[in-house]
Amino acid sequence: MPSRLAVLASGRGSNLQAIIEHFDSIARERIAKVVLVASNRADSPALLRAATASIDTAAFNPNDDGSELLALLQKFRIDLVVLAGYLKLISPKVISEYAGRIINIHPALLPAFGGEGMYGARVHEAVIASGAAETGVTVHLVDDDYDRGPILAQWRVRVDKSDTAESLAARVLNVEHVVYPRVVEMVAILQQLESKATV
Ligand code: GRF
Repeated sequence: MPSRLAVLASGRGSNLQAIIEHFDSIARERIAKVVLVASNRADSPALLRAATASIDTAAFNPNDDGSELLALLQKFRIDLVVLAGYLKLISPKVISEYAGRIINIHPALLPAFGGEGMYGARVHEAVIASGAAETGVTVHLVDDDYDRGPILAQWRVRVDKSDTAESLAARVLNVEHVVYPRVVEMVAILQQLESKATV
């Protein structure tokens, strides 16, 4: 049985798109499938992308104790929760129910340039201001703090002297689109092996 993925996204949804396309392209193996895209914003472009791909969508209140999101995840029998540009903290109730089964991508080499308020252009502006010669992409497990859970994968990206936050963001995003779907796939495979081993 393919792992059932929920993708949570607040914005544009380009990583969501990369994940959908990746799992479509390896459809014969049926490792995982995005069965739900949910957002804290009913007008998130990510929901539109999902609807276009005939995937169920939902908007939920991110400010409750997690009950609404948890009910959604349980209703769709979600195995793995993938955060893709989701800007809110996941509540402890959901974290404890889905421990080790929520992953996030961050557009820098954590623990550098992470934490509350570090998202979007701010991350790349801070990297450039620091004079760092390289930045990158981090995929990590989610715990109850911003950008602090165990790291699953990292990939380096060079910073050019002429880079603006915009040009750097674009270079990093291209790498995200390659790395994230593949890490999600690996986590899904490991999860399936683990569940077979415990039967
Ligand atoms: C990405 O840069 C991701 O690393 C960060 O938020 C951005 C989301 O972009 N967490 P998109 O919505 O997937 O296009």
